[in-house]
Amino acid sequence: MGDSVDFDVVVVGSCNLDLVSATSHLPSPGETLRAVSYAEHAGGKGLNQAVACARMGARTAFIGCVGNDSAGIMLRDLLSSEGIDTSQLVTVDAPTGRAFITVDASGENTIVIVAGANAHVGDAAITIPSSKVLLAQLEIPLDVVTRVFAQAHNAITVLNPAPAAQLPTELLLLCDFAVPNETESGALGGAQFLLGAGVTTVVTTLGERGAEISNATSITPIAPYKVDAIDTVGAGDAFVGALCAELALGENIEHAARIASIAGALATTVHGAVPSLPTRAAVMSLYAD
Ligand code: RIB
Repeated sequence: MGDSVDFDVVVVGSCNLDLVSATSHLPSPGETLRAVSYAEHAGGKGLNQAVACARMGARTAFIGCVGNDSAGIMLRDLLSSEGIDTSQLVTVDAPTGRAFITVDASGENTIVIVAGANAHVGDAAITIPSSKVLLAQLEIPLDVVTRVFAQAHNAITVLNPAPAAQLPTELLLLCDFAVPNETESGALGGAQFLLGAGVTTVVTTLGERGAEISNATSITPIAPYKVDAIDTVGAGDAFVGALCAELALGENIEHAARIASIAGALATTVHGAVPSLPTRAAVMSLYAD
């Protein structure tokens, strides 16, 4: 990719240790359930999306916080091993973020996150390097996201509003793209509301129904890529990362979303978030122009 800027994509976001239990079904309130299996993976929407960008060939930097513990060392090493710049990954005096994930036999999941070190992103000054795309999610303090988008220089700003939260107009006005899933879009008032509040383009992911691109004048459906899904954790992150990598390449949003749709679908065919994020070669081998 081009080199007139420091990076193709800069991601400001969270990183977690994912503690993943596979169960027959999702537990009901008050129910104690035996797990069928258990695994630990690197995770967090910010880290997952940074890895997704890097595997799609984008020169990527990740800005965030880990704790001074073994999970923090593991996440830092993972990011480096993916070729991601970690010069602004700060180690703070708090536990590394955790995500308690349950995945049932049909691939459905529930996730409880404990912010830990992620709550400290922005405590130390952040200097946003130049990039083609600047990407953030909402597992770090909201005011920090607004602050970094205000420093975007000429980068395309992409907000993955996950988990959904009430968004200030100041932030929405700074978003070139918002990429919610259907549930988040509903919680935020819908694509038309986000457009009216200042976002230029909304890309809503619709799971096995594909995605939808909305702007002031049109709504464009993006067909799904059909797979047999076994685990949807990280699929949205694969979509967002691939979308940003393609935007950084200069592709238009429709082309980028078609490629992202394949990346998201592929991610549902492998267990775990980071393990499931596809490479550019895998995605492009399935892309028919
Ligand atoms: O989007 C999936 C991610 O959400 C998981 O990796 C977990 O850490 C939570 O942040």
